[in-house]
Amino acid sequence: MTSKSDLYYSDYLELEKILNSQHPKSGFATDEMLFIIIHQAYELWFKQIIHELDAVRTIFSKENVNDNAGEMSIAVHKLKRVVKIFEVINQQVNILETMTPMDFLEFRNLLQPSSGFQSLQFRMIEAKLGLKMEHRYQSEYYKHIRPGGFNAEDYATISNVEKEATLKQLIVKWAERTPFFDEALWGEYQSLYPIEEGTQKFWSDYKQMYANSLSKAEHGRLNELEKVFYKEGSGDFSMNAMRAILFIMMYRNLPIFHLPFDLLTTLIDIDELLSQWRYKHMLMTRRMIGMRVGTGGTSGAGYLEGALRQHYIFRELNEVTTYLIERSKLPDLPNAVKEKMSFNTK
Ligand code: HEM
Repeated sequence: MTSKSDLYYSDYLELEKILNSQHPKSGFATDEMLFIIIHQAYELWFKQIIHELDAVRTIFSKENVNDNAGEMSIAVHKLKRVVKIFEVINQQVNILETMTPMDFLEFRNLLQPSSGFQSLQFRMIEAKLGLKMEHRYQSEYYKHIRPGGFNAEDYATISNVEKEATLKQLIVKWAERTPFFDEALWGEYQSLYPIEEGTQKFWSDYKQMYANSLSKAEHGRLNELEKVFYKEGSGDFSMNAMRAILFIMMYRNLPIFHLPFDLLTTLIDIDELLSQWRYKHMLMTRRMIGMRVGTGGTSGAGYLEGALRQHYIFRELNEVTTYLIERSKLPDLPNAVKEKMSFNTK
């Protein structure tokens, strides 16, 4: 016999609500049930992704992320969970593709002018990662200038989320805080080339090492290196942040860099999986509706292709790869640097 206080499976999960939330507009004879359930499953996973991203952003919002203690590994662990979720939801496109274009046509017109475009949670994921409205492809679509955009409330929510510190901004700040290049640590460093005046010893050498690694055809890259690592930085990443990222990528075999390197590669994974989702979704759209406009009023597959091209979040992290050199050519680091290499210290 169950007592009043015994927790019951369906009550705990509130299945009454969830399982009574599928109301196909075309009735139950079509594939609309599948269409609804797939979207709902996505939205549940989106919720979990947002939950993880918020936890990670809280960790990185601190003055000092303690890389050597649990915090950094908790953050990386949570981001890896996001990666796993994306892997699963990217597969779900395949289930929906068992619905044929003719099956879809049976109820498609009943959906106008709503569309996945209006998924607030999807937009929140993009915004929390670091995508800004002004960088969105055809951002005017968002403003509900025609049926299919966001209602005023959701648009305001996206705008407010954009005002919070994004994961990308927090990663930049974290990278900038790294203490690798304090001149005091580089006293015993043996420069390989004459030091360029006003340039930190390691970076003075690096310019030359990179120049040596370039083929004739690539020589123009040296100007790019100057711009990114000696003057301006790149995109949202300052010069110092870009230096720290390159340094972590190059010296990733040092134990202290394992977690930071893991963090960077996981962020690249997330960007890549998000793009894979966009790509699979675009192909599915082309397959289902060809070149017709979307129910949300965009140009359809054409719009999705534009978003795929433009909506990378951590493009600067991939850019760093351009400036790597062979490991065997890397100079040995002075002991003081190796010892100090903890994000723990300012
Ligand atoms: C029959 C299947 C589907 C078709 C034909 C389709 C079609 C489209 C089209 C044409 C757009 C562009 C906006 C518009 O004009 O409507 C769009 C956007 C979108 N759809 Fe789908 N969709 C499908 C399934 C899904 C599913 C299962 C999800 C899961 C949540 C989803 C989420 C989204 C999102 C998030 C966007 C915005 C993408 C962006 O702006 O980058 N769609 N969809």
